[in-house]
Amino acid sequence: MPTKIILDCDPGHDDAMALLLAWGSPEIELVGVTTVGGNQTIDKVTRNALAVARVAGIHGVPFAKGAAHPLLRPVEVAEEIHGASGLDGPVLPEPDIELDPRHAAQFIVDTVMAAEPGTITLVPTGPLTNIALAMRLEPAIVGRVREVVLMGGGARVGNWSPVAEFNIVVDPEAAAAVFAAGWTVTMVGLDLTHQALATDEVVAAIREIGTGPARFAGELMDFFTAAYREVAGFDHPPVHDPCAVAYVIDPTIVRAIPAPIAVETRGEHTLGMTVVDLRGPAPEGTRTQVALELDAERFWGLVLDAIRALGDPLVERVD
Ligand code: BDR
Ligand code: CA
Repeated sequence: MPTKIILDCDPGHDDAMALLLAWGSPEIELVGVTTVGGNQTIDKVTRNALAVARVAGIHGVPFAKGAAHPLLRPVEVAEEIHGASGLDGPVLPEPDIELDPRHAAQFIVDTVMAAEPGTITLVPTGPLTNIALAMRLEPAIVGRVREVVLMGGGARVGNWSPVAEFNIVVDPEAAAAVFAAGWTVTMVGLDLTHQALATDEVVAAIREIGTGPARFAGELMDFFTAAYREVAGFDHPPVHDPCAVAYVIDPTIVRAIPAPIAVETRGEHTLGMTVVDLRGPAPEGTRTQVALELDAERFWGLVLDAIRALGDPLVERVD
């Protein structure tokens, strides 16, 4: 039985890769895609999500637009990394699907409450605003969600500050609420995602597939590589968001350990830090875990298989 997920994202180059991986993997049933303001404004990331859907041939899946800004703080985007559109690099096709009329938070509530308890996994790959809003709208979702597998945070490293990661620090109050809620949370953070590097060999293997989605992914990775080189001094970019999807597909490619995790919302120098207590065995009943190591070879194998499985949707349509 495939695992049902709602992908809550802010595309974003790596969010786009997460969408391709989710749609191209038989182990996943994509029951909805929700968007959240993050890498770019909500209108831009929503448009980008719909464009990726067109490239990947995603159909029959509701897309719902969510929060424009964090719970308490002003909008902060990652233009240096993702460009003015939020998805610079490839030419984006015109979207061909209509948005679901509901707010993303309402969509999440409706979907989780209508499903069998314990069957829906939330996979947030942007700021946690929509998830926090959904919890506020209907607290009962906490007991019904199977697991939250999120890309964000880091036990030992930050990127938006020395100690904080972008998705967490732009809406730390939302993140604090999500980590403290009492559901099972797997934090796929920078400790792990910095092992998911799009090396030259990886990008060449993607291109080799030769289809529209493969070309699209290759162009995304070219822009992402240049941005990470210039802004962050990486030779090859860490492709964060699909790591969360990969964990859902096959948890054995990740080493994760239970640990208490709290989010700093007041620190002068530590705002948005995910404080992970790794001092000893986690206390009984700890529901949060931190992902630390990735089998990068198997991870990229999943991504390549998924892109292959997508075929060439735009070409097939024209025929
Ligand atoms: C995270 O921030 C965003 O820029 C990426 O899409 C990813 O979700 C990495 O810190
Ligand atoms: Ca993201």
